[in-house]
Amino acid sequence: MSDRYLTLVNSPVGSAVAQRVGLPRPAKLRRYAVGEPLLTGPALLASTSGKIPAALRRALTTAGVDVTETLPEGGSLAAVVLDARSLAKPGDLAALREVLSPGVKALGASGRVIVLGRPADGADVGADATRQALDGIVRSLAKELRRGATANLLWVEEGADSSASLPSALRFFLSGKAAYVDGQPLRIGSGAASAPKDWDHPLAGKTALVTGAARGIGEAIAGVLARDGAQVIVADLTQAGEALARVANRLRGTALHLDVASPEAPQRLLDHLGAHTDGLDILIHNAGITRDKLMANMKPQQWDSVIAVNLESQLRINAALLDSAQLRAQSRVVCLSSTTGLSGNRGQTNYGATKAGVIGLVRSSAPAFAAHGDSTINAIAPGFIETEMTAKMPLATREVARRLSSLQQAGLPIDVAEAVAWLSSPGAGGVNGQVLRVCGQNLVGA
Ligand SMILES: NC(=O)c1ccc[n+]([C@@H]2O[C@H](COP(=O)([O-])OP(=O)(O)OC[C@H]3O[C@@H](n4cnc5c(N)ncnc54)[C@H](O)[C@@H]3O)[C@@H](O)[C@H]2O)c1
Repeated sequence: MSDRYLTLVNSPVGSAVAQRVGLPRPAKLRRYAVGEPLLTGPALLASTSGKIPAALRRALTTAGVDVTETLPEGGSLAAVVLDARSLAKPGDLAALREVLSPGVKALGASGRVIVLGRPADGADVGADATRQALDGIVRSLAKELRRGATANLLWVEEGADSSASLPSALRFFLSGKAAYVDGQPLRIGSGAASAPKDWDHPLAGKTALVTGAARGIGEAIAGVLARDGAQVIVADLTQAGEALARVANRLRGTALHLDVASPEAPQRLLDHLGAHTDGLDILIHNAGITRDKLMANMKPQQWDSVIAVNLESQLRINAALLDSAQLRAQSRVVCLSSTTGLSGNRGQTNYGATKAGVIGLVRSSAPAFAAHGDSTINAIAPGFIETEMTAKMPLATREVARRLSSLQQAGLPIDVAEAVAWLSSPGAGGVNGQVLRVCGQNLVGA
C-alpha cells in the first residue's frame, strides 16, 4: 500500500470510495520476463461438454503448461481454462458454475481464468442467448477475483484451434504479458496465423515503426517490439529529438523526426522506408495529444490539433501505405485508442472523438488490410496508465481512478506494450478489426 493510498483512505472522499469498493489492497501483478514459464503452477482444463478437444490440450501442453483435469487437493491453481463452446441452452450454464466455483477458490495470486465461447451465429436464439451469457459471467467474475487474478473471454471461431490462432491467444492471455487485461472479450478468428519459430522472439526478422516513441507508452512499445526481435524505427517530433535518439540507441534502432500531422508526413515516411528498409511489417500509431476543455470553452485550435494528430494522421498514413509497395504481406497495424473513445470523458469531446474515430477506422479498414496479403489492423484501448500524460491529473482524481479498476491499480506502459506486441505477432493473424482494452476493468471508462 502506497503512502498516497494511505493519505487517500484517510481523506473524506477517499474513505467513502474505499468503503464503497471494499478497502482495496492492490496486489503486485505478475508481469512477463523473458524465459520464464507461462504459468507458475498447474492449470485446470475443463469443458462444458465433458470432452476436451485434443487441439486445445495440445495448445497448452506444447506451451509448457502443466495441465490437470482434476482439482489438486489442497493445492493451488495458476489458471482455469474452461471450454464452453458446447453451450446450447440456459440450463447448460450450470456446468460453468460447477467448474468455476471450486476453480476460483483454488486460484492463486495473479491467476488466470480463460473461458472459450462460440460467437453467436443467428441460427438458434436460445443458443445465442446462452453464448452471450458468458460475457456477463466473465465480466462479473473478473470483478470478484482478487490478488491480481484476471478473467477473460475468447470468442473462438470455427477453425481457430487448428491454426496458430488460438494457441497464440492462449499464450498471451495466460502469461504475465496480459497482467492488466481483465474482464475483456476478444474474438479469435481462423485468419492466416502462423506460429513463430521462437516464441520468445516472435518478431525476429520484422521491421517495425512506432510513432510518438520518444517517451511514455510509445517508448515502452518500441522496447517490447525490440525485445521480441523486431528492428525498430522510432518516430517523434523534432523537439523530442534528444529523447528519441536515446531510445533509438538503447534499442539499436533508427530515429525518424516526423510530425505525423504534417501534410508531407505520409510521403516522408514512405521515403524513409524506401531508403532504409526492405519494407514495413509492423506500424504502431501511438502518437497522440490531449487538449482538454469543456465543449462550451473549446477553441478551434484545441479541436483541430487533436483531430489532426490522433485521427487524420492515421487515416492518411494508412492510405499511403496500402497504396505503396512498402507494406509487406501479413503486416500488422495497431492503433492507440482509449477507453475515453468507448465511454466518453468530461472535458474530452475532442480527444473522445478521435479515440472513437480510431475504432471506426480499424473496423472499416480491416477488410482492406486482410486483402493486403492477410494483414491485420486492430486497436488497443488503454485505460488509466501511469505516464506523463496522466501524471498531470489532479492527485485525488488520479488516486480514485487507480483504485476503481478491478485490479485496484493503474496499468504501466509495459502492459499496453505487451498487448500491442502480441497483436503485432504472426500468431495474432486471426484477430482483425477489433479493439482490446488494457484497463484492468476500470470503472472509469466502463
Ligand atoms: N497514458 C494513458 O493513460 C493513456 C490512456 C489511453 C490512451 N493513451 C494513448 O496512448 C498514446 C501514448 O500516450 P502517452 O501517455 O505515452 O503520451 P505522452 O504524451 O507521454 O507521449 C506521446 C508522444 O507522442 C509524441 N507526439 C505528439 N504529437 C506528435 C506528432 N504530431 N507527431 C509525432 N509524435 C508526436 C510526443 O512528442 C510524445 O513523445 C496516445 O495516443 C494516447 O492518447 C494513453
